[in-house]
Amino acid sequence: MVSEEQKFLSRGERAVARCDRLGDKPFSDEAGLLFRPWLGPGFQSTVETVADWMREAGMDARQDSASNMIGRYEGLIPGAPALLFGSHLDSVRDGGRYDGILGVIAAIEVVSSFHERGERFPFALEIIGFGDEEGSRFPVTMLTTRAVAGVLEEDDPGTTFADLQDVDGVTVAQALNAAGLTARGMARAGREASELIGYVEAHIEQGPALEAEGRAIGVVSGIAAQRRYEVKLHGTAGHAGTMAMALRQDALAAAAEMVLAIEATARAYEGRDCLVATVGSLRVWPDVVNVVPGDVIFTIDVRAGSALIRDLVINSVLEQIRHIADRRGIGAEIIPRENLAGVPCDPRLLALLEAAVADVTGSPARVLVSGAGHDAMIMARLVPMAMLFIRCERGISHNPAEAVRAEDVDIAIGALTDFVRRLAAAENSDTVSKHSD
Ligand code: GLV
Ligand code: MN
Ligand code: MN
Repeated sequence: MVSEEQKFLSRGERAVARCDRLGDKPFSDEAGLLFRPWLGPGFQSTVETVADWMREAGMDARQDSASNMIGRYEGLIPGAPALLFGSHLDSVRDGGRYDGILGVIAAIEVVSSFHERGERFPFALEIIGFGDEEGSRFPVTMLTTRAVAGVLEEDDPGTTFADLQDVDGVTVAQALNAAGLTARGMARAGREASELIGYVEAHIEQGPALEAEGRAIGVVSGIAAQRRYEVKLHGTAGHAGTMAMALRQDALAAAAEMVLAIEATARAYEGRDCLVATVGSLRVWPDVVNVVPGDVIFTIDVRAGSALIRDLVINSVLEQIRHIADRRGIGAEIIPRENLAGVPCDPRLLALLEAAVADVTGSPARVLVSGAGHDAMIMARLVPMAMLFIRCERGISHNPAEAVRAEDVDIAIGALTDFVRRLAAAENSDTVSKHSD
């Protein structure tokens, strides 16, 4: 039900208010901050609420066998292939309220506006809220997107996806079972390319370019290549008061040296093809004040506009890690967790989106590369893909300070609406020219 209060909001204001509402318990697993890992209680509550909003916008809503929430608004002919809008419902720990979820909720507003006018197209409109984009629970990203694109098993990251474990040792298979789903079912969540005509994702920019240029929205030309690793260091735990410094195999001191080597290497390549490298997670065992650290696990995330620079940096970093480990007598296991190629957006959808943005904003669309990863990277393996960026304050993301302006979201909703109509016109003229050939 739309509350009386919500009736007086613009669509952009309502979208922002909905994201804000999902920013804490029960939609987060921790009170006072947003943490919505895949298949946690906050995720389950979010799925139910998003399904209600989809239904209210005139869509049929269902959860697929990979846990993704999907809404469908039929076209002029029931059962027609769909244009799929989407993004993710999960969040990083202590994340912002708009990363991912805004793309789903803004798309619901687009469909709601068509539903209110009774407007239908030669294709259906679907919206998908993916379960796991961030990889904030299991050590691999976009498992649920891979399931939809039908590449879950093809992308096996060294461990069968069902056996991947979260920090508590719960496997993907167990987490799915607890949610009433199965790993086998998840592997069968793949869509046929013939069911879809394209995938379009609206997302906050997560960078400062649009704000610096005073633009509300922009269009993405492609998404940067990324690689992730998990490094497990095995030293020797011992008494902090009695173990001589020269005899120590301190896994944390080794990790510290490695983290700084990664930073220095990335700095040496700064400015080349948007290269960035991050150690975002580090766990220490036994994590006790008077014990020399015996084991450490840390992550490495490296991204660049091209695979060439990314791999140059990765190769250098891995060599330095092995060297530091050898010198310190520490065991080092390096586990590849992600290898995503850079992905260009589809030229036809990109051109239509650029035209829509130019129409709605009154100036030529700004075209940007995305340094952040998105579900669109995986969906591009199944269908033509395009992305729309929405300005966010100071480019801050993966941070509770993440902020968007409702008026920008209104403009984004306007551009997506215009885009759907342009696509319908283009599809119609394609059909007419095919028939007259
Ligand atoms: C997702 O937010 C990513 O780029 O890591
Ligand atoms: Mn995101
Ligand atoms: Mn994110």
